Amino acid sequence: MSLRIGDLAPDFTQDSTAGQIRFHEWLGSSWGVLFSHPKDFTPVCTTELGATAKLKPEFDRRNVKVLAVSVDPVESHKSWIGDIDETQGTKVNFPILGDPDRKVANLYGMIHPNANDTLTVRSVFVIDPAKKIRATITYPASTGRNFDEILRLIDSLQLTDSQSVATPANWKRGDEVIIVPSLTDPALLKQKFPQGFRVVKPYLRYTQLNS
Ligand code: BEZ
Repeated sequence: MSLRIGDLAPDFTQDSTAGQIRFHEWLGSSWGVLFSHPKDFTPVCTTELGATAKLKPEFDRRNVKVLAVSVDPVESHKSWIGDIDETQGTKVNFPILGDPDRKVANLYGMIHPNANDTLTVRSVFVIDPAKKIRATITYPASTGRNFDEILRLIDSLQLTDSQSVATPANWKRGDEVIIVPSLTDPALLKQKFPQGFRVVKPYLRYTQLNS
């Protein structure tokens, strides 16, 4: 059975470019993004890891640890990192798990046999501080992911955790948010949203949060 939103993220111990990682312990009280790469020394993966390294300050700002995984061994990752740093104009500043035994890939269902029976697809798991899976994204090997979208997703998740709001289509930080339909008590609405809100339909209410 594949992992679903709300499931506990499976724990594991595996070697990485930063030494052995015991996943839950390594996450600590942070959020986590675990994302898979089909193979070392491949072009799309090279650009993705460079893009992630450049966004590391943005992940840090959101209290998110990023962890890449590829089914190649750590020694191979270490030599590939030289190419990534050179070609992407950055320094890979987060660990890459070695997974030659496919332990992590299998635990997280990252191998989709009808796509490729040995390499992973491009999976993303967003994990909260309670170690619950809060979102998953799956792309084929041929399509590089949009890491700004992953940050946007995390912004939305963290906002909905801290306030009674959801985020509309194409929302980005600073835009109006939606008040969850379950919140109808007028006193509570006034308490939570003293700035007011606009009602388009009884179930579609927008408000502007102070960011
Ligand atoms: C790539 O990262 O470029 C790639 C990896 C596996 C299959 C296709 C593309």
